[in-house]
Amino acid sequence: MVNNLVKESVKKLKPYEVKEYKNVTKLDANENNHIGEKLNEKIAQEIMNSSINKYPDSDCTALRKQIGGALRIAPQQVIVGNGSDQIISLIIDAFVGAGDKVVTSTPTFGMYKITTEAAEGTTVEVPLGKNFEFDYYSLIKAVKKEEPKVVFLTNPNNPTGGIIPREQMIRIVENANSVVVVDEAYYEFYGESMVDLVNYYPNLLVLRTLSKGFGLAGARVGYGVGSKEIIRILNKVKPPYNVGSLSQVAAKVCLENTAMVTELIEDIIKEREKMMKQLKSLPNVEVYKSYGNFILFKLQDAKEIQQYLLEQGILVRYFGDTGPLADCIRVSIGTSRENALFTKSLQETLTMVEEIAV
Ligand SMILES: Cc1ncc(COP(=O)(O)O)c(C=O)c1O
Repeated sequence: MVNNLVKESVKKLKPYEVKEYKNVTKLDANENNHIGEKLNEKIAQEIMNSSINKYPDSDCTALRKQIGGALRIAPQQVIVGNGSDQIISLIIDAFVGAGDKVVTSTPTFGMYKITTEAAEGTTVEVPLGKNFEFDYYSLIKAVKKEEPKVVFLTNPNNPTGGIIPREQMIRIVENANSVVVVDEAYYEFYGESMVDLVNYYPNLLVLRTLSKGFGLAGARVGYGVGSKEIIRILNKVKPPYNVGSLSQVAAKVCLENTAMVTELIEDIIKEREKMMKQLKSLPNVEVYKSYGNFILFKLQDAKEIQQYLLEQGILVRYFGDTGPLADCIRVSIGTSRENALFTKSLQETLTMVEEIAV
């Protein structure tokens, strides 16, 4: 019966499925496996002093002040969400209605399309280039032709790991009569940002998350930074109490201890470069340069290889056998022990597959 009631736009959608695996080395979700015990202890101590019987601060006042201070912008230019996923939903809720258009590159992070289509909007997907490089000319052409309400630029991009030159993003922001969202979920592993421009461009919104660099995926804390005008609009559709008090405490502690986090991030970047070299040395494996905490690579029999790795207790992300990501696997950069385990298992698998083929 409920099937007859559901919106047409939702009927067409498939749920974003996340399978749970027990006792595996998780290298499938771009998480930070390095996060230190010291930080957890500090978080636990602060949580002991928090009042969980009370609703949380609905506006994340202290956190917005802390983020604003670190980025040298006013707290009124910051909105905090239940993960940056929630900010993506708020953007769509506020700006995209039936028939409105949203421009993205493809392949990219799936939630832009899911939220747009649920809102009865249309996603105009501009393919990335041959090696997944950003196709500026096609994107700007689509922006001019389609007149979208929102443009999503993901820098670095997930799952390809590629980046967009800053001058190209600026030209898009200047030429679009749209809200231009620059999703910097992987900023900490790259280091370049558009945050310094939010006071110049009222249509620019930068997204960040504490799920990746800061290792706080379980707490679900992300934020958006933009003009006061754009943040005021997003606040109109934000549910009250959207970030729990325990998550607000965890975020505060992480942001107070950036030096500790920065050290871990440097390790991840070193490990990424090491893994990149190792993957490149393997025969018939195409590796894409990454600026995130993950690497995408393409190889024959990707599905079987993902399965074999899983049998060895290593979980990586496989993207199916059709479309631009056919035969691609994405592996997150874990600890050096986890990465060594992954490369060893992958090498063994490739040797085995080669032997079977002979
Ligand atoms: C590009 C990008 N944006 C946003 C997100 C959502 O992050 P979260 O909701 O954990 O803040 C992800 C998660 O993988 C991502 O890859």
